[in-house]
Amino acid sequence: MAHIIVVGNEKGGAGKSTVSMHIATALARMGHRVGMLDLDLRQKTIARFIANRAATMQRHGLDLPSPAFRDLAEIDQSTLGPGENAYDRRLSQAVAALEAESDFIVIDCPGSHTRLSQVAHTLADTLVTPLNDSFVDFDLLAHIDGETGAIKSPSVYSEMVWHARKLRAQAGLKPIDWIVLRNRLGAQAMINKEKMGKALDELSRRIGFRTVPGFNERVIFRELFPRGLTLLDLRDVGVVGQMNISNVAARQELRDLVKALRLPGVEVDF
Ligand SMILES: Nc1ncnc2c1ncn2[C@@H]1O[C@H](COP(=O)(O)OP(=O)(O)O)[C@@H](O)[C@H]1O
Ligand SMILES: [Mg+2]
Repeated sequence: MAHIIVVGNEKGGAGKSTVSMHIATALARMGHRVGMLDLDLRQKTIARFIANRAATMQRHGLDLPSPAFRDLAEIDQSTLGPGENAYDRRLSQAVAALEAESDFIVIDCPGSHTRLSQVAHTLADTLVTPLNDSFVDFDLLAHIDGETGAIKSPSVYSEMVWHARKLRAQAGLKPIDWIVLRNRLGAQAMINKEKMGKALDELSRRIGFRTVPGFNERVIFRELFPRGLTLLDLRDVGVVGQMNISNVAARQELRDLVKALRLPGVEVDF
């Protein structure tokens, strides 16, 4: 059975696609068989990343370790059972097709509440939720008292995860390991950073997630997208000069993240 990693957050721009690309590439480069699905059928960031990667490999005559991407195939509506949802079928077919040939399946979710995203959350062995360091984004996890900072109630997204957990428990599946990752951290705004840290700490105990070291705001996390590459691929395309201090730090952040995910059978060595 493949271990399923879902990257989700109902907020757009949180870093889901960025985190998905980096985790999947890191696992592929460590020799694991990785399947990938893109549930953002509108933006298709992962599909674009994979196409860009294929083009780069062809141009340079390279065979980089890569995730195996699969589109959600269209289905013949007439084959649906009574009350069966077309999206559910498309997702389960794609997962089933990848399952046999993958150690891990990384699923990138859209930044909104969709049927696909909801069902994907119930499939998650590991759920990774990237979060910008902003209380506007924190509000997607829980509502807090504006004066005291105390947590008042979980948000719709946290409730959706809670529901997914309940369904998994009923089906006898192992619990979701939910991980919240702070993304695009900057060198400034220390007071906000500290406040966010405290709020996340408290919330992690309340609604049951782990927090892990996050990604800082770094150009290297985004500039290689048109070539379908990550910082881990640079050496293979003959780029050595770009290994500046920020890139070395980015590699360390990615390493720390993958370690912190505690994925089965993964010894982080990159
Ligand atoms: N750690 C980071 N450093 C720099 N840019 C980032 C970082 N994380 C995300 N970005 C950029 O932020 C934007 C939103 O990220 P994206 O991964 O597309 O979010 P989502 O998939 O959640 O909508 C993109 O332009 C992406 O390149
Ligand atoms: Mg995205």
